[in-house]
Amino acid sequence: MSIALVILAAGKGTRMDSDLPKVLHKIGGAPLLHHAMLSASALEPERTIVVTGHGAELVEAAALDFDADAVAVRQDEQLGTAHAVRQAKQALAGFEGDVIVLYGDTPFISTDTLDAMRAARASNDVVVLGFQAADPGRYGRLVMEGNTLSRIVEYKDATDAERAVTLCNSGVVCADAETLLDLVDAVGNDNASGEYYLTDIVGIAGDRGLKSTAVTCDEAETIGINSRVELAAAEATFQARMRVSLMDSGVQMQAPDTVFLSFDTVIGRDAEIEPNVIFAPGVTVESGARIRAFSHLEGAHVSRGAIVGPFARLRPGAELAEQVHIGNFVEIKNARIDEGAKVNHLSYVGDAEVGARSNIGAGTITCNYDGVMKHKTTIGRDTFIGSNTMLVAPVTVGDAAMTATSTVVTRDVPEGAMAIGRADQVNKDGFARKLFSMLRAKKAKLGKG
Ligand code: UD1
Ligand code: MG
Repeated sequence: MSIALVILAAGKGTRMDSDLPKVLHKIGGAPLLHHAMLSASALEPERTIVVTGHGAELVEAAALDFDADAVAVRQDEQLGTAHAVRQAKQALAGFEGDVIVLYGDTPFISTDTLDAMRAARASNDVVVLGFQAADPGRYGRLVMEGNTLSRIVEYKDATDAERAVTLCNSGVVCADAETLLDLVDAVGNDNASGEYYLTDIVGIAGDRGLKSTAVTCDEAETIGINSRVELAAAEATFQARMRVSLMDSGVQMQAPDTVFLSFDTVIGRDAEIEPNVIFAPGVTVESGARIRAFSHLEGAHVSRGAIVGPFARLRPGAELAEQVHIGNFVEIKNARIDEGAKVNHLSYVGDAEVGARSNIGAGTITCNYDGVMKHKTTIGRDTFIGSNTMLVAPVTVGDAAMTATSTVVTRDVPEGAMAIGRADQVNKDGFARKLFSMLRAKKAKLGKG
């Protein structure tokens, strides 16, 4: 059975108090919208339709960024969830199969839960995802008669007896496309909010002799984000899950609560992550690598046996081969560091290539920016770059070459050569002794006055 997704993301998110549309706030480095799209992507939807309204252009761009084939449809006025689904009618034209309606601000619905809903569709026309709420608050209530869901009552419209029901509506719905569109067309807005409620389709389906049921999941999956406090709580939930899933797949963490991960962080078996490490998006760490304390990684690839940190920063395009060592206060950006090379102390290596087994001395800087453009530094294999070398790009250092400490390299260094470019040293005999006594006398005089 083919699947289409309709993701509702037109709402304002007033309680976020933000210029950014709610669904673009991030968890684990990815917008809420992407999380919703990600959990459903395992179903291999034939069409993904995102209903946008507030901040439509930004939300549309984010949807396309996740899935270039996604279709965004506008809901100019937010007249309710059923009205939102109606906007998907044209985009669903010609589609035969089931539609799953999701909310863009509900990031944790699992693929297993969606699968369970699809399975329940075999013997039901409409399947709604419900959950037992610890505090049912203002959620819509699911009114069951045995296995049949007879209707959904919104909190505002519910009687006291209905409000006592703890089985609540998550908002996720699955039904055949044609049936769903027929049902949402029949929904009116004669209710406490004057909105077109998607939840009304259940009662209408019953009147038409169609059967509805509820599938339930853990309340944690149905969390929706409405405020910054809820966003932070959801981030904590996400981080806890990511840590457990990585540790379960063989990653070593001494203090997992201090390690922060992104939605796409990949870490291999027996890799060791020390405390206080941040993985921004786009990082892959291979098996057996070690990321030492207080490092920050983004858009980087760390190969087997490499060591990074403590206090290292890998920026986008950092590509570390096997057995590479990156030490404290080193920043690597858009640079390939080949097998066994070492950049151990206080260096900036950007827009560069460093050959195998080369050693980059403390305080080395690739001067990659001239104020207007970026330039590349190429360092061969088996080189020795002396401490405090300034490599003024574009520049190339040949294989097995050397630079003397404090050299400013402005011209290419041939293979096997040594570059030395610094002022000659002069020793002035006795000068330090004289200067010290002069300065001490001055200080003593000032002290008396
Ligand atoms: C909805 C459900 C309620 C359920 C709750 C779960 C209805 C009528 N009620 O209530 O039963 O318990 O979710 O969180 O469906 N949206 C649009 N266009 C609109 C209105 C909403 O795109 O015109 C989007 C919102 O951006 C949001 C989602 O639909 O992503 C849900 O809307 P929201 O206003 O939060 O519904 P609730 O009142 O919470
Ligand atoms: Mg809501």
